Amino acid sequence: MSLRLSLNAYNRLEDEDFKVLAAIELGMSSHAFTPVDYIARVSGLHEKEVSYRLRKLNKLKLILSRRLPRVGFAINSIAYDCLAIRSMVKSGILKAIGDALAEGKESDVYLGLSPEDIKLVLKFLRIGRTSFRQTRRLRSYVEQRDHISWLYQCRLAANKEYEALSILYKLRVRVPKPIACNRHLIVISFFDGVELAFCKEIEDPSSILLDILSEVRRVYTEASIIHGDLNEYNVLISSDGDICIIDWPQYITLDHPGSIEYLRRDIRNILSFFKRKYDVDVDLDRAIGYVTGSSSML
Ligand SMILES: Nc1ncnc2c1ncn2[C@@H]1O[C@H](COP(=O)(O)OP(=O)(O)O)[C@@H](O)[C@H]1O
Ligand SMILES: [Mg+2]
Repeated sequence: MSLRLSLNAYNRLEDEDFKVLAAIELGMSSHAFTPVDYIARVSGLHEKEVSYRLRKLNKLKLILSRRLPRVGFAINSIAYDCLAIRSMVKSGILKAIGDALAEGKESDVYLGLSPEDIKLVLKFLRIGRTSFRQTRRLRSYVEQRDHISWLYQCRLAANKEYEALSILYKLRVRVPKPIACNRHLIVISFFDGVELAFCKEIEDPSSILLDILSEVRRVYTEASIIHGDLNEYNVLISSDGDICIIDWPQYITLDHPGSIEYLRRDIRNILSFFKRKYDVDVDLDRAIGYVTGSSSML
């Protein structure tokens, strides 16, 4: 499922449609399907207007409905995208959405533009998308509960990544600048670079490896955080050799049981990439000692 579907729908929506979607969404915190009188009350719209909007939203395939025991509505993930985008536009963060940078397993990442024409990155979290197949009409209550909890999981993941970036950016660790977070969408600064894995050539691989490890060391010693999915795809490098560590929703803190194992895996991933591709050899325990601060040099 690409964001294109959501953008097509987004362009057809009016203020009243967003009011209805937001009312359904709010209702879903206490109902599997939000009843019509609730939607009318929360949106402040007349019941007739609500019915018209519901028919339109249904045609645009943004909502799911149930007849029994009581008519009710739920939003789907396309509507969730629309609500998140709308909030960014309304709060003056976002002016336009451009090309996809990546449509991955756990997220869709798009280029965006701020009202001041600054390039932005929009990351829509889609946790566990591969295991959760969204069907147009969700039949059972259980499926509907799963659906709600899926939207909720995506929101939690976005909040978590935003939180990590906020902490790390303040410490001047080389990560994207966090700009805004709404629902399952985070807006972060654009870094002009490519993933290490796809980088044709690096002038001085040893010094890039040291740069990465020294950032990981600061993350560990100053923020008590471990990335948890560090590898050659989550480090971007610019043409002048600057680095940026991305993709933080699964980060863990040092008090997490077994956290050191996650750190070992992170470091092992990076070291084996540099060994394989550039024949740069650094001992794992030595690197761990450096990153955890027990030795001051690599
Ligand atoms: N701040 C950014 N600047 C430039 N490109 C980015 C940025 N963040 C993500 N990307 C691009 O999007 C891809 C996916 O982002 P990532 O955060 O790693 O999500 P995923 O969980 O899907 O791997 C990255 O590999 C990179 O190509
Ligand atoms: Mg990634």
